[in-house]
Amino acid sequence: MSLRIDGKKISSDIKEELKEQVKQLKEEGVSVCLAVIQVGNDPASSVYVNNKKKACAYIGIESQAYELPEETTQEELLALIDRLNKDDHVNGILVQLPVPAHMDEKEIIQAISPAKDVDGFHPQSVGALSTGEPGFVSCTPAGIIQLLKRSGISIDGKDCVVVGRSNIVGKPMAMLLLRENGTVTICHSHTKNLKEVCQRADILVAAIGKPKFFDESYVKDGAVVIDVGIHRNAENKLCGDVDYDKVADKVSAITPVPGGVGPMTIAMLMNNCVEAALRMNN
Ligand code: GUN
Repeated sequence: MSLRIDGKKISSDIKEELKEQVKQLKEEGVSVCLAVIQVGNDPASSVYVNNKKKACAYIGIESQAYELPEETTQEELLALIDRLNKDDHVNGILVQLPVPAHMDEKEIIQAISPAKDVDGFHPQSVGALSTGEPGFVSCTPAGIIQLLKRSGISIDGKDCVVVGRSNIVGKPMAMLLLRENGTVTICHSHTKNLKEVCQRADILVAAIGKPKFFDESYVKDGAVVIDVGIHRNAENKLCGDVDYDKVADKVSAITPVPGGVGPMTIAMLMNNCVEAALRMNN
């Protein structure tokens, strides 16, 4: 029997801890405030933004929502970010991605003060992660480390294979596993013998973006499998990058989709907001 890593439960535990911490901070006169900016009204983005606002409300974090029209100019958005950067009441700033095509996403990410970069996307945050300086870490990979640690899974000395090299998941995931003393391999679309590399993994992080791509032939007996993918199949059911039913019996632990990695992202965003407030008040 393999362990089904319960991301819903673990994220809920983290949110309860944060709720308690925010309550104590309030008693000390410290508030926590996140500014969430959405440009345009992409329906998927609206769902994500709403979930973030709800999580803030639950934990006791104030959220300021800036819902800007699709035709907002780059200059207008940069002016808002500049104002929020200078506002001492605001601890975290998040611009929901993607922004409309006429905007320069890189410039927007770089405009956010690294002290308020709760998404961990600013180049200074990314650099800090690789040198081991304090800085904010991208929420999904940070959540995966929490899933492993809180499930009693050690990373030290393990062969870790990350499939996917995005700036938001694959690359920061590799850096975090390295920081925990894993031996890390990053695979991508040009990797030769992907299957053989995956078969060597003690910890396999699947972030390839293809539904049910990984079956039992990719995993070693007793491996730990973390599934970052989220897709809707023909029957409108959610599934991951891993074919759960084929893999589950072979591994020692696995995250389901839904209810695995997904719920951790918001929990870690909330954690970063509290961390930002603590840093600003210390
Ligand atoms: N769009 C999809 N995921 C994310 C995220 O984690 N942060 C932001 N800002 N936008 C996203």
